Parts: sequence; C-alpha cells; structure tokens
Amino acid sequence: MNGKPASKPNIAIISASIRNGRQSHRVALYFQKHLKENKLAGVEILDLNKYKFPLFEERLNYLKSPSADVIDFAQKVRSADGIIIVTPEYNGGYPASLKNVIDLLTDDWSHKPVALATVSDGIFGGSQVLTSLQFSLWKIRAWTVPAMFRVPNVDESFDKNGNPAGKHTFAKTTAGFIKELLWCIEAKSRMKDFK
Ligand SMILES: Cc1cc2nc3c(=O)[nH]c(=O)nc-3n(C[C@H](O)[C@H](O)[C@H](O)COP(=O)(O)O)c2cc1C
Repeated sequence: MNGKPASKPNIAIISASIRNGRQSHRVALYFQKHLKENKLAGVEILDLNKYKFPLFEERLNYLKSPSADVIDFAQKVRSADGIIIVTPEYNGGYPASLKNVIDLLTDDWSHKPVALATVSDGIFGGSQVLTSLQFSLWKIRAWTVPAMFRVPNVDESFDKNGNPAGKHTFAKTTAGFIKELLWCIEAKSRMKDFK
C-alpha cells in the first residue's frame, strides 16, 4: 500500500445518534474534517437524525415501495469503500436508530470495511457498545476494523463544530484508526477478482 491507496477511497460516516441535544455528532464532524483536510478520502456523513427512518418493518430487499430516503441511504452504503460508524453508548449498548439501519440492509454490509468510533459523556468512551455492535456487524458479515476510537467526556473533548477542545488532541489515535481503515479498504480492493 506504501502508505496511500492507489486512488482516494470513498468513506461514509454514519452518525448514529438522533437524540435531542446529541453530542456524538461532533465526532462525525471531526472525522469528516480530518479526512477532507488531509485529502485522505472522499467523505459524506450519513446522518440518521436527518434521515428520520421509521422503525424497522422489513429489509430493503423485501420492501415493495421503499422510500427515496431508504434507497438513498442504501446506495450510499453500497457505494462506500469503507464506513465509519460514530455511535453513542446507551445503557451499555448502541442506539435503536443504528440497529434500525443495520437490519435494513443485507448484502450491502457483506465484506464492507467498517470502523467503529464510540462516544460517551463518561470516562470510558462508550467502549461497552463494542461487544454488541461488533457482534451484530459480524453476523451480517461486515468486516469490522480492529482499531478502536473511544471518545470519553464528549462534551469537553470536542466543540460543536467537531474541533478537539480538551487536553487530548486525538491526533495519534485518529492517525492509527484511519490508517487501519484505509489498509482494510486497500486489502479489499486487491481481492476484487478473487472468487
Ligand atoms: C438513554 C441513555 C443511556 C445512557 N447510557 C450510558 C451508558 O451506559 N454509559 C455511558 O457511559 N453513558 C451513557 N449515557 C450518556 C451518553 O454517553 C451521553 O449522553 C452521550 O452524549 C450520548 O451521545 P449523544 O449525545 O450523541 O446522544 C447514556 C445516555 C442516554 C441518553
């Protein structure tokens, strides 16, 4: 890989929180800015708060008349070379909004490199989410990237525009996290002719 993929990959950031006054979205903004400014990838935030999907009733493949939003979301996941999921921790798990869209798609998750950023307002950075979220993504055959990005004390760590605001700059963790995602994307691209 020589540090850089052959061409710039396309990364979708799923911002999972739809809570009033949410704070984890700051981390999605941070990644968007980081990827753009460092010219590492084409990037788009898939904001579940904007999509406002209804509760899951059936997988996209089985929906008779899926909404334009559902089709749009699915196409963006499908066309992304890799995904970053930014999720808060709610009662030790990930939010229903995120389960809603994991279950919505089927083959689109298969072999998709997915990196997980977990967020909380406490000291543990939402890391308890990983057990359930990684298991769901494994079941649906996504490739979860084995690098963690934990954001503790999110209200102090990032400002509203997604700039690191606390003592911790996140620079080193970000570099390692993104490098690992890009590595997985590159590895997958080299396997495209493999049957
Ligand atoms: C319903 C609910 C449950 C929560 N459970 C946890 C938890 O188990 N562990 C934790 O560290 N923080 C927990 N928190 C605090 C969240 O990590 C914090 O509110 C964070 O900002 C959530 O992300 P959001 O603002 O994007 O919704 C909880 C918050 C809510 C609203």
